[in-house]
Amino acid sequence: MAKIVILTGAGISAESGIRTFRAEDGLWEEHRVEDVATPEGFAADPDLVHRFYNARRAAVTAAEPNAAHCALADLEADGRHEVLVVTQNVDDLHERGGSRHVIHMHGTLNGALCAACGHRWPAPAVMHRTDSCPSCGVPATRPDIVWFGEMPYRMEEIWTALRAADLFVSIGTSGNVYPAAGFVQDAVRAGVETLELNLERSSGTRWFDTARHGPATEIVPAWVREMLA
Ligand code: OAD
Repeated sequence: MAKIVILTGAGISAESGIRTFRAEDGLWEEHRVEDVATPEGFAADPDLVHRFYNARRAAVTAAEPNAAHCALADLEADGRHEVLVVTQNVDDLHERGGSRHVIHMHGTLNGALCAACGHRWPAPAVMHRTDSCPSCGVPATRPDIVWFGEMPYRMEEIWTALRAADLFVSIGTSGNVYPAAGFVQDAVRAGVETLELNLERSSGTRWFDTARHGPATEIVPAWVREMLA
């Protein structure tokens, strides 16, 4: 059974109405990334950071998975390929689209994390700085999101899957944020075939054996149809 590792980024959720990160103004939903996506930003203004992620969580709750998420779920459900989705996205649109084998390397909006003891629990719709940890009782609750300067989750597992894969596919990511941006080079070194599916050329396009460009809701279902033909 062919093993396929699929890396996804913000571009796969763009047509579900979730904004991508690298807008031309360099801001993320009108905020500087340093203010809302770093441990230092959280320490400086936890209320702002909670408000920011509460708004992101509400936007994701109101969004629906699109044809690209659903196509990846179909590829997995078909059973002829072993599919692992590694997503940089903190939304749950892969799961709601039907994917079962998903790693959230940058965390998830659906998670709460205690900065004091490391306990994790399902995030309520609205989180506050004063929420206390259900395990240790300390009010040090933060979103379970990997911020800049922090180590992404489950990296050993991802690298092991990548090296053992037959095909690595990168969908809707600009290739600017490491370590995910380096997966294509890791795959090439391991002799794994590589395919990019993105709206436009990314920073890493030259590393891929093949690149197809267009909106995810068109090019991802088209690729899955070919795989299942
Ligand atoms: P980016 O915003 O950097 O890149 C999104 C990519 O998707 C771009 O290359 C777009 O061309 C492409 N794109 C946009 N619309 C698309 C569509 N409809 N179909 C296909 N592709 C489309 O987002 P990421 O690469 O995911 O990290 O960003 C990586 C990480 O940087 C994020 O996980 C986040 C961010 O800062 C953390 O929060 C830790």
